[in-house]
Amino acid sequence: MEAPDRNLALDLVRVTEAAALASARWLGRGDKNSGDQAAVDAMRVSFDSLHIKGSIVIGEGEKDEAPMLFNGESVGTGEGPMVDVAVDPVEGTRLLAYGRPNAICVVGLAPRGTMYVPPESYYMQKLVLPAEAAEAADLDAPIGETLRKAAKCLGKDVDDLVVFVLDKPRHEDIVKEIRAAGARIQLHTDGDVMGSLMAVDPRSEVDVMIGTGGTPEGVLSACAIRGTGGRMLCRLDPQSDAEKQRLLDAGVDLSEILTEKTLVRDENVFFACTGISSGTFIKGVRYQGRGATTQSLVIRGKTGTVRYIESLHNWDKLMRISAVKYD
Ligand code: FBP
Repeated sequence: MEAPDRNLALDLVRVTEAAALASARWLGRGDKNSGDQAAVDAMRVSFDSLHIKGSIVIGEGEKDEAPMLFNGESVGTGEGPMVDVAVDPVEGTRLLAYGRPNAICVVGLAPRGTMYVPPESYYMQKLVLPAEAAEAADLDAPIGETLRKAAKCLGKDVDDLVVFVLDKPRHEDIVKEIRAAGARIQLHTDGDVMGSLMAVDPRSEVDVMIGTGGTPEGVLSACAIRGTGGRMLCRLDPQSDAEKQRLLDAGVDLSEILTEKTLVRDENVFFACTGISSGTFIKGVRYQGRGATTQSLVIRGKTGTVRYIESLHNWDKLMRISAVKYD
């Protein structure tokens, strides 16, 4: 089996850029399905030029439910390294539909058979900390204690910390605990992949990400955290009796703690994301009449290199060769 020894993330970013350029046209138009479909279509076409034997393990859903990028679908030219592929063409479909910050296009790649495949699990509890505060990670400790330890590791006071939390009723107690500890909070309606990216990157104002979010989003976040460093602890957290029963019937141990290393069991992992709508960390697509600008984050797990890529796209040239209609 050929090992993925090139920096595939530099090819991967073309896929997330294409999806962002296509889907950002739907910013604030109140139609999350059309925005998602535009991203899926552009992503699918772009994958065709990638020299990988890719198999989607985190996708848009099972075959027949999703027309493209479904779990089990093959992507890439069929030549090159055999890889597991995780995609979220639009991470934050509501963010895009309502014109809110932080909608992104995301893709992760890892050697075949090394990505955690969620056993019909939709939700997991997550705690993400930067590398310097990794030792503070403990899913069972009171949140105040974790935050005090993290602040100490980071050489900050607790009231210097910013904690990213999804604004969901299920997080009411978490929010109370964070406030009681004296830390500050960023509440976001959606988008905990962005929260995880911000927590592990020293250039963002966020220090910690806490809360329950999507299981697929957890695996995608782990692809990035394997490269940036940082600590991610997770535990499946079914939000309905039906989800819980399915997991128990499948013999899943709901108390098992998963980490970025068990979610992606090889460091030879690649991650790329491109902003659709602008946030404080990654800017969204800016259309400029005859072209557009995009901002992306590209991460290679093996080397730990994190690149910000700002790209200028020129419609006049692009539309001569592109199968996707961007202009
Ligand atoms: P979508 O893009 O699939 O809508 O996911 C957005 C998101 O906010 C994720 O970032 C998060 O992990 C998950 O949804 C949380 O799910 P829910 O909104 O059901 O609580």
